[in-house]
Amino acid sequence: MQVIVRPTREAACNLAAAIIEDQIRERPDSVLGLATGRTMEELYAKLADKHQRNGLDFSLVRTYNLDEYIGIPPEHPGSYRYYMNKNLFEKINIDLRNTHLPLGMSRDVAKECRDYETSIRRNGGIDLQLLGIGATGHIGFNEPLSALKSRTREKPLTPITIQQNRDLFPNPDEMPRCAITMGVGTILEAKRILLLATGAEKADILAKAVEGPITAMISATAIQLHERCSVIIDTAAATKLKELEYYDWIYQNESEWAPYHRRGL
Ligand code: GLP
Repeated sequence: MQVIVRPTREAACNLAAAIIEDQIRERPDSVLGLATGRTMEELYAKLADKHQRNGLDFSLVRTYNLDEYIGIPPEHPGSYRYYMNKNLFEKINIDLRNTHLPLGMSRDVAKECRDYETSIRRNGGIDLQLLGIGATGHIGFNEPLSALKSRTREKPLTPITIQQNRDLFPNPDEMPRCAITMGVGTILEAKRILLLATGAEKADILAKAVEGPITAMISATAIQLHERCSVIIDTAAATKLKELEYYDWIYQNESEWAPYHRRGL
């Protein structure tokens, strides 16, 4: 794992956007795993900007989102399909047929979950999986006690998560109590993981995820098992980490990051 601390939220988003840009330029038909939440809004705005100003081409890119609420239609303003269309897909030249989210209105949720896994596999697996982190330490909607080998499935949301996300609904009481989420095991199969977290409210859970023991009680700790995982955060989210100097030394000295330094990142 690499932990990269940037001075501001904007700088953290710039680095994450540059990594995604490089992935797409290197492999134009990349399969991206995408995340939602407030943190990603700025990142998606930067990717849209790269498309509009620098011609970053999404025409062959394929995407799979981590999760979707159960029981609301895609056109509901609280749905993740709506979020993705609004924040990213409508602003870039992606073919919407290549964008995938679980269908929260599916009448057979178990089959929908199986089909989602099959579809990811048929597309060759996820090249780069973007992750945020929720207040409970979830990745996707893998709430506490999610098996570290779990696959895409239905998951009830914790009261803490409902509290965290309910204001994103026009009518907060309409927030669903369950979601379909990729499992921790599904996420760990991505070839590369990029976790982005910003803001002081993430500092405690982030320190547990990065420096704490691996536990099903905090699904984000599972990223410690991944061989190619970069955690990009701002200073506000980094305050509870113990080994900051070491992380920075690695960022400054590992050859992989030299091209990013040259770009001022
Ligand atoms: C939701 C998503 C998670 C995301 C989290 C963080 O719960 N299911 O994938 O990581 O939000 O949200 P925010 O960026 O708003 O803090």
